[in-house]
Amino acid sequence: MTTFDPVMASSYDAMYAAKDYPREAEAYHELFQLADGPVRTVLSFGSGTLGHERFLIGKGYRFHGVDLSPTMVELAAERIRSEGIEGITVEQGDMTSYQAAPGSYDAVALFFNVVAYCDGLPDLERVIANAATALRSGGVLVFDAWNAAAVRKEPPHDRTATFEQDVVTITRATTATHVPEKHRVDLDITIDRTDGERTSERHAVHYWDIADIKRLLDAHGLELVRASRFPEISEPPSDAYWAIAIVARKRAA
Ligand SMILES: C[S@@+](CC[C@H](N)C(=O)[O-])C[C@H]1O[C@@H](n2cnc3c(N)ncnc32)[C@H](O)[C@@H]1O
Repeated sequence: MTTFDPVMASSYDAMYAAKDYPREAEAYHELFQLADGPVRTVLSFGSGTLGHERFLIGKGYRFHGVDLSPTMVELAAERIRSEGIEGITVEQGDMTSYQAAPGSYDAVALFFNVVAYCDGLPDLERVIANAATALRSGGVLVFDAWNAAAVRKEPPHDRTATFEQDVVTITRATTATHVPEKHRVDLDITIDRTDGERTSERHAVHYWDIADIKRLLDAHGLELVRASRFPEISEPPSDAYWAIAIVARKRAA
């Protein structure tokens, strides 16, 4: 299924202009410290327009971003060029099949609920397996996700919002359909722009039980070392907040 097509992707930064990327980047920076040894090289799955990476690059990390959407990759490459960013490379690819050289990264990160795009537990397991291969011993897999306990209690509802992008107004209308037996919420998103561009996409957004995540991590040699709220990473997960952070460390072979 196609998501983040050219109209959605080129509207993305305007729609998330109010997202607190600097604060979240700081939380991720703290979570990377749970690795054994320093984290310098990070494989970022679903890197999008580099919202977190651009705030982390000054702390000495080097990123390689992999994103399924060709337009998101183009926008990231354009940002690297126009902002003169050094230490970030990007390529188009699918995290469910992406094979990095074994042991070549200190960390694998999925920033901003990228795991939601895994189509159920078998897909999540593929991503965890690919991350485990990419990591060196003691390296960490870090991601934020939706906590099943919280989404089941209070699922998303329909919403409409508007955003400004230079002289263009973007209207985003979202219809949310909870599919509890598949552990997902189908978000039918329509973007209408005053420059005449328009698109509709279904984002099947999956949520996860922490016990299922732990089981998959264990099966691939990764130890769950932290589950917390996100970005409030000193707070435990609860059924009152959707966003959680997960940190798993690769066991020595
Ligand atoms: C919510 S956006 C997050 C983008 C960025 N990390 C951020 O924080 O703004 C989800 C991103 O995941 C990408 N994505 C979805 N499925 C993917 C897959 N199978 N492999 C790689 N990227 C994927 C999308 O193209 C999109 O850029």
